[in-house]
Amino acid sequence: MSDGERSAMPNVSSFAFWSQPASVRAPTFAELRRSAPVSFQEPSDFGMVPSERGFWALTRHEEVVCVSRRADVFRSGQGVGLGDVPIDLLELNASFLVMDPPRHTALRRVVSGAFTPKRVALLQAGIEEKARRIVDEFVESGGGEVVQDLSSKLPLWTICEMMGVPESMRSDLYSAAEAQLASQDPEFAGDAQERATMAVQAAQTLHGIAAELCSARRAHRGDDVLSTLVHSELDGQPLSDQILGGIFVLFSTAGNDTTKNTTSHALKLFADNPAQWRLLTNESSLMATAVEEVLRCATPVIHFRRTATADVTLAGTLIAEGDAVVMFYESANVDETVFPDAQRFDITRNPNPHVAFGGGGVHFCLGANLARTQLRALFSRLAERVWSIETGKPDFLVSNFINGIKRMPARVIAR
Ligand code: HEM
Repeated sequence: MSDGERSAMPNVSSFAFWSQPASVRAPTFAELRRSAPVSFQEPSDFGMVPSERGFWALTRHEEVVCVSRRADVFRSGQGVGLGDVPIDLLELNASFLVMDPPRHTALRRVVSGAFTPKRVALLQAGIEEKARRIVDEFVESGGGEVVQDLSSKLPLWTICEMMGVPESMRSDLYSAAEAQLASQDPEFAGDAQERATMAVQAAQTLHGIAAELCSARRAHRGDDVLSTLVHSELDGQPLSDQILGGIFVLFSTAGNDTTKNTTSHALKLFADNPAQWRLLTNESSLMATAVEEVLRCATPVIHFRRTATADVTLAGTLIAEGDAVVMFYESANVDETVFPDAQRFDITRNPNPHVAFGGGGVHFCLGANLARTQLRALFSRLAERVWSIETGKPDFLVSNFINGIKRMPARVIAR
């Protein structure tokens, strides 16, 4: 590709691009899917450390799925974000999300043992009961500020119940987990230095909570995930505090913001498409496909990056060993060649091979079933209780990683 061709390429790396809402970004991604599905992009000006190299942007479903499933060639150990993060912060913050096989395989196996479908099933009754109370309160108030009064409550409760975090520590955990993911937004941090400070302090807070809880679990084993992990072994050794802390940070961040933003987006999607809400309230058997369609349209995680360990060709473009490739789930989830009438929110869509939880492969979201259980519980109760939904103007998070809603008013009319 010549320098001229590169400079004419639509830019999806700059702060200016990511300061716009997803609806404004969409035509640029559509153009790239059509004309340059694998395009070279300038270094991002978003990172916590200056980034010197550019990256390949993958915008089609096919290449996102291909790269997700080739962990032999596309590795996570050098970072998974579009902007660079200091290497010593990586594992502190993201644990096995930023590891590669065989280390990733071994640690994920240990964690999965604490995270079984049986454990999710045991949590299910509690999740449904909690969702009922959250929705009832919201409906009885006629609505409110969606993020604070509705979306944030169930994910925080669920993760804390799973890990056995006492009430007294929950608001610190929530603020620190939020700070990890909100640091790109100028409302919270002005420059790269402030972003790094915010992320480090948040990681320290979460590691501090983890260390206190783990030490208590070593003395008295409980029935939570942390108790299982504290008494598990990796290569014949107990997990170190550093590893346990990293897992705790990963769960606190991955498990909170994603499900929270999906719920906020769902309210807006149903408010903008009242016929789809009517359909769901009349036809509860559509709940499973509705949840998948909300996940596709919300795409709460915008991208993940990999680094190539060998020369490889993608859509006719040579990716050289050492190059960074970024999988834009936000674009793959509206790929017209995979999703007919892709811009339409259609709760009956089936099949719906969205990549909101990743494109498959070894890093596929470990919490997908837990997230679906929470979303089903919330939407089921909303469908039972709510006749109509109106939302006000959303205030979107500035981020190239999380498709977030910071605040949004909503009015609901009870049935
Ligand atoms: C709507 C909610 C959620 C979405 C959209 C989501 C999305 C994702 C995505 C895109 C990945 C990376 C996949 C890849 O690289 O191939 C991921 C990984 C992960 N997610 Fe989720 N997630 C959600 C909820 C959760 C929940 C509730 C948890 C619970 C703790 C969780 C835990 C994880 C973990 C531990 C990983 C790392 C897996 C690995 O690297 O092996 N996620 N998630």
